[in-house]
Amino acid sequence: MGKYIIAGNWKMNKLPSETYEFVKEVAEKTKGASCEVVCCTPYVCLAPAIEAAKGTHVKIGAENLHFEDSGAYTGEVSADMLCDMGVNYVIIGHSERRQYFAETDETVNKKTKKALEKGLIPIVCVGESLDEREAGVTMDLITMQVKKAFAGINADDMKKVVIAYEPIWAIGTGKTATADQAEEVCGGIRKVLSELYDDATAKAVTIQYGGSMNAKNAAELLEKENIDGGLIGGASLKSEDFSIIVAAAK
Ligand code: 13P
Repeated sequence: MGKYIIAGNWKMNKLPSETYEFVKEVAEKTKGASCEVVCCTPYVCLAPAIEAAKGTHVKIGAENLHFEDSGAYTGEVSADMLCDMGVNYVIIGHSERRQYFAETDETVNKKTKKALEKGLIPIVCVGESLDEREAGVTMDLITMQVKKAFAGINADDMKKVVIAYEPIWAIGTGKTATADQAEEVCGGIRKVLSELYDDATAKAVTIQYGGSMNAKNAAELLEKENIDGGLIGGASLKSEDFSIIVAAAK
């Protein structure tokens, strides 16, 4: 449906000094990829990542941004700073940021608007906890997250957004959602988008799955109609595994 995008989320892993070589490796191993290949790195790794990605097909993303343009926000990084470096993508509202850094649907909305305003492609994360899944409220919760994240965003801008469906119980646990479970929610997200916007917009949005996606299970997940790529944590830290996932995204 949407454009296929395989993005690595390095989280708080890898050193700046390892980054250049690693991104070069990713570029080499994913040459000729039929999907977009993105490495989202810690802020301090962005400069060497961008340097290594120059002249290749690999795009670089950040893992967060602040929603204000500038000012007294010690320790924060703005969209302008990311754009100035040559960053293309930014992850917004990852469940780890919601859980440990008080990220809310409201800050996700502000950050998404700021990213779009500045020309960054936002990868907006949504997903339910195990309790929510077991209580049978997964789609209610995801619908609310989607509505709040994209409140006030028009259809033209919405078409540029990437949504990552990441069930919290599947992140870093080795417990992947089954392809059917992932497809059900990704299809549900597309339905919500077509109700909020229209069919064309819903079809244009890239919807990724994330949560223990790896070299072994990627093909089955990526085969599904409403799964247009992946947001990869652990397996994005090994160039060989990451390149196998990229190759599975046809
Ligand atoms: P893992 O692939 O390590 O489960 O992480 C998924 C994730 O959180 C990507 O953003």
